[in-house]
Amino acid sequence: MSDSYDAIILGAGAAGLMCAARAGQRGRRVLVLEKADRPGKKILISGGGRCNFTNIGAGPANYLSANPHFAKSALARYTAGDFLELVESYDIAWHEKTLGQLFCDGSAKQIVAMLLAECEKASEFGGEVIVRCNEDVQTVDQEDGFRVVTNSGTHHGATIVLATGGPSIPKMGASGFAYDLARKFGLKIVEPRPALVPLTLGGEGVLFREISGVSAPVVARAGKASFPEAALFTHRGLSGPAILQASSYWKPGDPVLIDFLPGRDADWLLERKRETPQATMRSVLRDELPDRLADILSEKLGVQSDLGNASDKALRIANERLKRWEFRPNGTEGFAKAEVTVGGISTNELSSKTMEAKNVPGLYAIGEAVDVTGWLGGYNFQWAWASGVAAGEAL
Ligand code: FDA
Repeated sequence: MSDSYDAIILGAGAAGLMCAARAGQRGRRVLVLEKADRPGKKILISGGGRCNFTNIGAGPANYLSANPHFAKSALARYTAGDFLELVESYDIAWHEKTLGQLFCDGSAKQIVAMLLAECEKASEFGGEVIVRCNEDVQTVDQEDGFRVVTNSGTHHGATIVLATGGPSIPKMGASGFAYDLARKFGLKIVEPRPALVPLTLGGEGVLFREISGVSAPVVARAGKASFPEAALFTHRGLSGPAILQASSYWKPGDPVLIDFLPGRDADWLLERKRETPQATMRSVLRDELPDRLADILSEKLGVQSDLGNASDKALRIANERLKRWEFRPNGTEGFAKAEVTVGGISTNELSSKTMEAKNVPGLYAIGEAVDVTGWLGGYNFQWAWASGVAAGEAL
């Protein structure tokens, strides 16, 4: 079998489907080749099955990239408000959970169905989008456009779009396929690493594994980034939204600093001493934090006496430690548990307006395959939609 299209999109995920719909509605003939047995599998499992499909506050500051300016253009041209408008036009009920995070009231299946319906609409504009699953791409060559050979045959596209995502969650079929193909065409890759991923603790931190299941509101800091959300202690180390966010900025060997007293200042323990001198470190911490966490922290702080009998200096030091508790993770739980990947196809290689490779006309890369990574909370889908639209309008 051999056929030809205006565009062949590799990957029927968030970015690929959005791109296909846009190009199809501009009258293009588009073939989407998907390795899995159905489109949008990551969308289906996202947000606990309810898909945190965008974040109303999404802006360039919520993304990591070797070039922090790259995402600006696409994000400005297709905003969270634009996606929300699309969601509402399909009567999909939604709610804001927290911090601008928008979820379906019902199911993530509605988002996949909406994207497929948008692809079908292409026919109204003289275009066509064909989504073919169970397609194993074997080779891609540049030959009068691009020639793609899969298990089912050979397809020709005037243009080709890499939308196969990053290597997070390999058991769902994720791989470094986009990177390999990009390298084949001479594009550079920014070293990929797992992000939005739990951190593991060894050494002294092992003690905290005893309180697996305990969570507390904290501020977690890694590098210059800080996130006021919940941290969760696990049997392997640290997780919870604050830690997942910080993990994207964490590098091996770096500390993660945790403020266990968010909203309390440097004199908090001295004030407790004045107000309740008979109280112990353990009892005042138990008023602020879950009991098992308070117990382990007070034990490690080593202030044995009543606060009234502890020196101001000792309390100031303890206060300071509680506000900057230093964990030294010995690693992450890796791509197997990472929600996304930091790094990927270098943005230096791509036009920020169209996502087309500067040196390979007709080759585009979008979504997670590109070195643009969002925070936790709907930002990654917003990048998938925005970069998909940017390419879809250029194909
Ligand atoms: P995506 O991974 O969606 O799609 C790539 C597609 O390409 C897949 O369908 C894959 O099967 C296919 N493919 C791979 N290799 C191929 C090949 N060789 N040939 C053909 N096809 C191939 N983000 C967010 O904003 N809100 C959220 O709620 C969540 N929740 C969430 C939960 C979990 C468990 C994970 C793992 C991730 C999230 N994310 C998220 C992140 C979000 O899922 C991710 O950023 C986007 O899906 C990226 O969209 P892409 O289209 O780039 O890749």
